[in-house]
Amino acid sequence: MMKRLSMLAAFFAFASGAALAAYPERPVTLIVPFAAGGPTDVVARIVGDHMSRTLGQQIVVENVTGAGGTTGTTRAAQAAPDGYTIMMGHMGTHGAAPAVYPNLKYDPLKDFAPIGLAAGTPILIVARKDLPPKDLKEFVAYAKQNSDKLNEAHAGVGSVSFTTCSLLNSILGIKPTRVPYQGTGPALNDLVGGQVDYMCDQIVNLTPQIQAASIKAYGIGTEKRSPALPDVPTTKEGGLPEFQVSAWNALFAPKGTPKEIVIQLNAALVKALDDQATRKRLLDLGAEIADKSGRTPEALEKLVSSEIARWNKVLKVAAK
Ligand code: MLT
Repeated sequence: MMKRLSMLAAFFAFASGAALAAYPERPVTLIVPFAAGGPTDVVARIVGDHMSRTLGQQIVVENVTGAGGTTGTTRAAQAAPDGYTIMMGHMGTHGAAPAVYPNLKYDPLKDFAPIGLAAGTPILIVARKDLPPKDLKEFVAYAKQNSDKLNEAHAGVGSVSFTTCSLLNSILGIKPTRVPYQGTGPALNDLVGGQVDYMCDQIVNLTPQIQAASIKAYGIGTEKRSPALPDVPTTKEGGLPEFQVSAWNALFAPKGTPKEIVIQLNAALVKALDDQATRKRLLDLGAEIADKSGRTPEALEKLVSSEIARWNKVLKVAAK
């Protein structure tokens, strides 16, 4: 009996080892929970492009939009944990969402296996190019006087743009009309077109439009200016030091994905972030790339847990 059991155990170990050794044997779906062309989509496609080459299989981006990114994130949480569905989450889906959705259908910590951090994304306050204020000081005064006339674009409740502008609006004590989109890709099109007045967004979405002067940038919420946009002052320089905020994008697999597969996906991500051409594409857009110790699944797990605590506090104050 014992002998038969140990033969069976050996067989299953061999079978699962063989399956893992073959991974991936078909394309991997990468869920982006926002519209195509926006920051999450852009980072996913840049990183996914290089990871596809490492893995020898296509990484196919699927945009599953809705509810500030929580629809796609729920889909990813409930996908088969076999390594063939992963997602690009961010500070909103895995940090802020629990604070604004009491009935959220996933737990960012319990329902996901973190793979690794893909990019740090500083946040900027931007406006349509013909909004009267010339700089951040003028914007603050203008926004306070015209709060009820202003339209602010965001990517849905719980998204990065929503949460960071909730912080901005609460600092300024203003209540603009908040206009939701399926992502800040389409929101940016309307900002360029002048249909909305301002938004808070991740740098990777904004750099080309700021460089082309199709929109105005009032300030970046980081300690230092970004090398990608050296002319944009920090919010501290602009007189609004309370608005210190950054976001991030990271890869997650559904909880239960075999550890060996998570390690393989993390190694492909790390390799992408070390690749000169991939780095340049990200850095040119203003993304920040973590050093090696910041790219591990463990580092991402810690980040998610500290972000949940941070945004829970910030959004409670902002909702008052
Ligand atoms: C956000 O505001 O959460 C993002 O900009 C979403 C996106 O990728 O469009």
